[in-house]
Amino acid sequence: MRVLGINAIFHDPAAALVVNGQVVAAAEEERFSRRKHGKRPVPFSAWELPELAAAWCLAEAGVDVDALDAVAYSFDPGLCRDAAALDLADPWDWLRVEYAQRAPQFLAAALPGLDPGKVRFVPHHVAHAASAGLAAPTAGDDTAVLVLDGRGEVASHLAGVYRDGRLSSLHSQELPHSLGLLYEDLTRHLGFQHSSDEYKVMALASYGEPRHLGALRELIRATDDGGFRVERIDWASLAKAVAAGGELTEEHADLAASVQTRLEEVLLDLSRWLHDASGGARTLALAGGVALNCVANARLAAEGPYQRVWVQPAAGDAGTALGAALHVAGELGDRATPMAGADLGRGWSDEELEAELRRAALPYSRPDSIAAEAARVLADNGIVAWYQGRAEYGPRALGHRSLLAHPGDPDTTRRMNDVKGREQFRPIAPMVRAERFAEIFDGVYPSPYMLFVHRVRPHWRDRIPAVTHVDGTARVQTVHTETEPLVAELLAEFERRTGLPVVVNTSLNTAGRPMVDTPREALELFGSAPVDLLALGPFAVHRGSLGGARPAALGEARPATPGGTR
Ligand SMILES: [Fe+2]
Repeated sequence: MRVLGINAIFHDPAAALVVNGQVVAAAEEERFSRRKHGKRPVPFSAWELPELAAAWCLAEAGVDVDALDAVAYSFDPGLCRDAAALDLADPWDWLRVEYAQRAPQFLAAALPGLDPGKVRFVPHHVAHAASAGLAAPTAGDDTAVLVLDGRGEVASHLAGVYRDGRLSSLHSQELPHSLGLLYEDLTRHLGFQHSSDEYKVMALASYGEPRHLGALRELIRATDDGGFRVERIDWASLAKAVAAGGELTEEHADLAASVQTRLEEVLLDLSRWLHDASGGARTLALAGGVALNCVANARLAAEGPYQRVWVQPAAGDAGTALGAALHVAGELGDRATPMAGADLGRGWSDEELEAELRRAALPYSRPDSIAAEAARVLADNGIVAWYQGRAEYGPRALGHRSLLAHPGDPDTTRRMNDVKGREQFRPIAPMVRAERFAEIFDGVYPSPYMLFVHRVRPHWRDRIPAVTHVDGTARVQTVHTETEPLVAELLAEFERRTGLPVVVNTSLNTAGRPMVDTPREALELFGSAPVDLLALGPFAVHRGSLGGARPAALGEARPATPGGTR
């Protein structure tokens, strides 16, 4: 069966193609349209479809539109109720529902040749659940699934269990109670963009003390039926509102820390309830926007009752394209194959990459090993734009569209945040050779999708200061030779030169822009940011060969630059 999954309703529009139960292509529209998150999550944009991503998925797999068995749309307008009845302050919500009802016609217009009768609506949280429970590597066992979201049709959460590829839903919490919307409200109150910048609030929380925990325990609490209550919170009484781009102070960090801690406590309660209700499932799979909270995920893994916690790498709404397609494929009789990696997006052949370099008239070389070449530049404290293979599905760069740097230089964080033009309180994360993980870090293993924070062992903190956060943690990606041989080679070569099996990895983009997707975008970033080496597939373009300044070696004095925090 060939099933195209579509997420379009709120934000992060995306498409995924599942053939015979296996995902063969998945991509977010933002990587094509170059508009971060694809669109704003307002009712007026609900008709917009991931047209470019959907067309690419079909072309990538060589599947004609009329050969599709179904199109799975990750929202079911038939479940919707009046927004006022759900106590949602959204007077235009009905418009979203109207657009969703017409999605088959919109899709037929976007994909000429599509029979609108092939479009199936999948409940939003069933789509999230499938993206976790059917894509997780333990799909053969009973898998408890927790969807932690802002909102779907009428709910914000789903607790269930997958047995033999089928979902049994055990509880779902109705709106307006929503842990995702709670976090979005706080994000807005702190002057950030909601449905986008929640991870900045999580980062800010690590600088604060949870002074308001007592009050929040009254306002946010799990119920004994597997759900929860979130009462209205007077944010201004806890910390004054911040204008966009305004100054953040200790009181804001304390508020972020309080909400973050309470969120973790409630998630633990929910996970324990689900463990009992599922009959003691050993694996918990997570999806939904809240599941991108890697601090909470780590706490669930450490203190929850499960042997293993797995998080869908595209846990936000983009992942519902994949989940909806897997769900419908299951309905049509296909058994889902667990996903092998997040590298499901666009890729280019060596010939295509070389043609781009020729077109740009750049001096380039083809070293014997691009991994060794990049490791050499990194060991000299250079910054590397690392563009390899197919693009990642989901918000994390995992060694395919990455910016890499030396973890041993305390100044790396400032340099990387300057390259990207983003806030200085934002931490940067390490990738580590899987074989050396346990010696350096403590926490969830394996962690190939960078969705948990880990503790850096004390004697390593001074050796890798760039990736050790103020609270002694790091958000680790473990790199395994079997799945990521080229990145593993780079790490091994870097270790040979420096003794450190760790490299700084952050996404290949500049602030406010989607991740680089095409080789041309990689060249544009290289041309506009102080990156020392562009590793474009097997090809190397050195800044030095363009007549630019060389990076300062580790320990060498470098001119002071303004720190610039916000
Ligand atoms: Fe969602």
